[in-house]
Amino acid sequence: MLLHSSSAACLSSLGDHRSYSNHSASATLFLNFNRRSFPLPALKLRMSSAPARSSQIRALTISSERKDDLPMHVVTGTKVGVLGGGQLGKMLCQAASCMSIKVLTLDPLENCPASGISYCHVVGDFNDGEAVRDFAKRCDVVTVEIEHVDAVMLEKLEQQGIDCQPKASTIRIIQDKYLQKVHFSRHGIPLPDFFEIDNIESAEKAGSLYGYPLMIKCKRLAYDGRGNAVAHSKDELSSALTALGGFGRGLYVERWTPFVKELSVIVARGRDGCISCYPVVETIHKNNICHIVEAPADVSQKIKELSLDVAQKAVGSLEGAGVFAVELFLTGDGQVLLNEVAPRPHNSGHHTIESCYTSQYEQHLRAVLGLPLGDSSMKTPAAIMYNILGEDEGEPGLKLAHDLIGRALKVPGASIHWYDKSDMRKLRKMGHITITGSSMNIVKSRLNSMLNNDQSQTAVIPQVAIIMGSDSDLPIMKDAAVVLKNFDVPFEVTIVSAHRTPDRMYSFASAAKDRGIQVIIAGAGGAAHLPGMVASLTSLPVIGIPIRTASLDGVDSLLSIVQMPKGIPVATVAIGNAANAALLAVRILANGDAKLWDRVVKYQEDMKETVLTKAEKIEHEGWEEYLKS
Ligand SMILES: Nc1ncnc2c1ncn2[C@@H]1O[C@H](COP(=O)(O)OP(=O)(O)O)[C@@H](O)[C@H]1O
Ligand SMILES: [Mg+2]
Repeated sequence: MLLHSSSAACLSSLGDHRSYSNHSASATLFLNFNRRSFPLPALKLRMSSAPARSSQIRALTISSERKDDLPMHVVTGTKVGVLGGGQLGKMLCQAASCMSIKVLTLDPLENCPASGISYCHVVGDFNDGEAVRDFAKRCDVVTVEIEHVDAVMLEKLEQQGIDCQPKASTIRIIQDKYLQKVHFSRHGIPLPDFFEIDNIESAEKAGSLYGYPLMIKCKRLAYDGRGNAVAHSKDELSSALTALGGFGRGLYVERWTPFVKELSVIVARGRDGCISCYPVVETIHKNNICHIVEAPADVSQKIKELSLDVAQKAVGSLEGAGVFAVELFLTGDGQVLLNEVAPRPHNSGHHTIESCYTSQYEQHLRAVLGLPLGDSSMKTPAAIMYNILGEDEGEPGLKLAHDLIGRALKVPGASIHWYDKSDMRKLRKMGHITITGSSMNIVKSRLNSMLNNDQSQTAVIPQVAIIMGSDSDLPIMKDAAVVLKNFDVPFEVTIVSAHRTPDRMYSFASAAKDRGIQVIIAGAGGAAHLPGMVASLTSLPVIGIPIRTASLDGVDSLLSIVQMPKGIPVATVAIGNAANAALLAVRILANGDAKLWDRVVKYQEDMKETVLTKAEKIEHEGWEEYLKS
């Protein structure tokens, strides 16, 4: 057992090791030891020199020592080597710590984000073949958190039996964006037109072929928009080429894609070839850098299916296990084109930590270790991920970021991730905030209030809409409002008539979901078209309340509501029983809201209690006395 490895293992088992520095001198010693990163030769240090003094730490150290001598489970016994120790590496280590998976990281920076929590951080350049080779030999499986690694060395190592996931060939193809495009176009994946340029004549030819603006990209070492330049006219060509470092960098051009949205799909593939896709998300960029991710994307089911199809085909053409991020363009005419693929966890999948049953990080580890893939579906209806990009250099930038974090700490459903990078730089990814909630409208409003520091923007968003065809229905419909008020469920009450205001009904029903409404209660008398028509215009659950009318006593309304054609369901309640409609709405909402669920259960218990108390009284006093009281 290597000294530094066990120390890191001890501390990761103990949670956030930083807190131990206050508790005991020996723990502080350990902390410093763990924080220190090791150049490769230091890996030869032995366990015997471990400075474990505190009894808690010693106990863990001993168990850690013993583990190495025993046959261990694949999870804790397999060392996963990650090339790169940035924020993605850090979040991989965080996911690994839940299952005590040992993640080793290789990064040139001693204090890179992952260094503090990886099982063993090795200081070395992932682009240096020798460093990669020495590191890989200490791991059971090697993976990446960045594609700009020495892939040629990885291919050699694979031939010598090193297990690399995804395969080195995949990393080699992807790290060269031009080669990537050639690869995907050969596999029939739809993408923007592109071609290689190696002199000004070929660049001008590209301009006349594709028109302007023209996207010029570096083939290699491109990330966060660094490596792209746009020429808006022929005159701008040479400055754009110079900005990228000239033809020596290796350049190619892409036809400008006037996309309406950028989408992304994280696809996981296990070692057995089993595939699991995360929901399609929308990515919103600022200066070519991913800034906001909305999950799920607000696109039609058809576009979602098309996106999943393109993403799966793209990943299907690559070899190896792991998660892959597929960046896509959605065009105005409904085409989905591939932008690029990353063979690793991705910024567009950060939200999965809080919003999905299995995060992309855990999924990546499961995939490379050959464990069954986890459930990639969302456990919250909506999530927004906001990248904390450096707004200024140094201290002023840090101050702005920390002010934002201070505001985020007060936002319900917000989780803060700070990468602890040593330098604050403009537009650098310093951290991110994920906000989850019961609708996209709610999370968007929370994001806005956080960004604008405006509490008024956190105005309560109605979850239930109570609508009726006429104000004459209000004396009945008010009972629904009273119930919702008692349960503290935010609601709105308005008049929408299917017959007198059909346009208003149309716009109300079509926009309800986006506004955050989750259940609609519609009262209707006579022909009772309102609940049915609204149900045909929205996918939200609709509960119709038959309203008693003078002529047919409400039976006409009841029959009209229950006689909806197959495919357009409308729930209903007894004639005039608006309270039950609201209780049903509360039960629907309570399925995704533990607090509300408790209140629903309590309501039922109270109801039972009331009946039992009455029964006891009637039995005790006799019915005649009871009637008198
Ligand atoms: N062909 C294109 N047409 C229009 N915009 C593009 C095109 N290619 C890239 N972009 C824009 O630039 C961003 C960054 O480009 P990308 O090639 O993905 O670089 P990076 O590797 O830095 O993410 C994209 O997310 C998109 O907003
Ligand atoms: Mg990109």
